[in-house]
Amino acid sequence: MRVIDTIAEMQQQADQWRREGLVIGFVPTMGYLHDGHLELMRCAKTKSDRVVVSIFVNPTQFAPGEDFERYPRDLDRDMALMAPVGVDVVFVPAVGEMYPEGYQTYVEVGEISEPLCGAKRPGHFRGVTTVVAKLFHIVKPHVAVFGEKDYQQLLVIRRMVRDLAMDVEIVGHPIVREPDGLAMSSRNVYLSEEERQEALLLSKALAEVTRLVDGGERAASVLVSAAQKVLEQGARVRIDYAELRDAETLQEITTLDRPGVLALAAFVGKARLIDNTVLRP
Ligand code: PAJ
Repeated sequence: MRVIDTIAEMQQQADQWRREGLVIGFVPTMGYLHDGHLELMRCAKTKSDRVVVSIFVNPTQFAPGEDFERYPRDLDRDMALMAPVGVDVVFVPAVGEMYPEGYQTYVEVGEISEPLCGAKRPGHFRGVTTVVAKLFHIVKPHVAVFGEKDYQQLLVIRRMVRDLAMDVEIVGHPIVREPDGLAMSSRNVYLSEEERQEALLLSKALAEVTRLVDGGERAASVLVSAAQKVLEQGARVRIDYAELRDAETLQEITTLDRPGVLALAAFVGKARLIDNTVLRP
């Protein structure tokens, strides 16, 4: 596993592989890896000859007052976790390498980045699309794998790639969960034991709503209320949003007459957690 921390070196490596006719797979991350990340890497391996993982806590996607400074970082731990997976290159640029002095170019996707996390975290998706676009220019992947846990992020990136004719295939990977249902997240380390228990209410709320849909319920207001009711059982849970939207466009829907995504964001203690499920009528 080769560690690269400069853009020039990463681009040379990518160019060399491309000259050799090798397919490059890419998994961008912010590190503090868990099995969800590792599953994305294993998925990338099945679709490519060489796998690059980036680890970069991207400052431009954190709003002031969010957890950029305290976001967990541990490269040695990450390297040990990746070792058995067969990652070829780990790209770990410093902030100054990605955003040198005078940096002033941003990539911004329109409507699909506006609701949900876009509304609650101003500037977040602009930071995500900017860094992912730049990483694509550095790693030059043929295929890049993203998790459905960040459902809106996946749609925003697909939109960017289509709109800007980026020559990379975007693969979505299902949410990886702990045995009890909690979606894996680097931010789960923020949770105390009591909070960890209450964090389960997110996946429980999704399960409850899925049950209602299976039973024939189609009214968005009923489905969303049911999710809220489950979340409100947690004394340490503060709902950021709970919404049912069109699974493709993220536009509001009042009736589940096409695939919808139930998207949840909630603070559990200090941790802001997200989860979602796609519901089919
Ligand atoms: P990060 O939160 O580290 O996530 C990296 C990738 O792992 C994303 O594609 C995310 O959706 C996926 N992922 C995280 N938890 C997952 C889980 N439980 N199951 C499946 N996939 C999961 O998302 C980011 O970093 C950043 O925004 C990034 C894209 C790297 C840009 O900075």
